[in-house]
Amino acid sequence: MGNMIKVYRSKARPGLRDADIDALLQSSRRNNRAVGIGGMLLFGRGCFVQLIEGAGPAVERTYRRILSDPRHIDAMLLYDGSGEPRRFPGWSMGFARLECFNHLPCVESFLQHVEEADAEGFGADAALAMLLEFRRAQAQLEAALAS
Ligand SMILES: Cc1cc2nc3c(=O)[nH]c(=O)nc-3n(C[C@H](O)[C@H](O)[C@H](O)COP(=O)(O)O)c2cc1C
Repeated sequence: MGNMIKVYRSKARPGLRDADIDALLQSSRRNNRAVGIGGMLLFGRGCFVQLIEGAGPAVERTYRRILSDPRHIDAMLLYDGSGEPRRFPGWSMGFARLECFNHLPCVESFLQHVEEADAEGFGADAALAMLLEFRRAQAQLEAALAS
């Protein structure tokens, strides 16, 4: 079946705290590394956007587990693809808080749609473009820190 990519968005359970997000990231990275999948998680204004990719069966199993997680609600699948190359090779699960990046046009647009509760206005293409922009931004940041 090859590589599978899923992108979804969801809303954080009201009252979810920073420490809860830290904990879920830690177990996500550990689990993902163990089965060789990965991706990127973004969080802003109470919303998650996540891309998960890797071998089909492992992605399906993980996605089902994520869907039943009470730490978020109203998950909506935006993109479901297979047979494409990995977008985030080497990332067990990247993470960024959108509020720290609202100078990026894609983030501004996303946060605006969240604010207006416009679920249709921000679709698969925009979500994928935003995730890839974060891969670029973080790679640049790492390069700067390493130099
Ligand atoms: C927004 C969000 C993203 C998550 N992403 C992942 C993930 O990428 N991989 C993963 O194994 N679990 C992820 N989880 C956690 C799973 O729902 C589940 O709690 C976890 O896989 C259970 O494993 P554990 O018993 O090792 O904690 C995520 C949960 C939430 C709320």
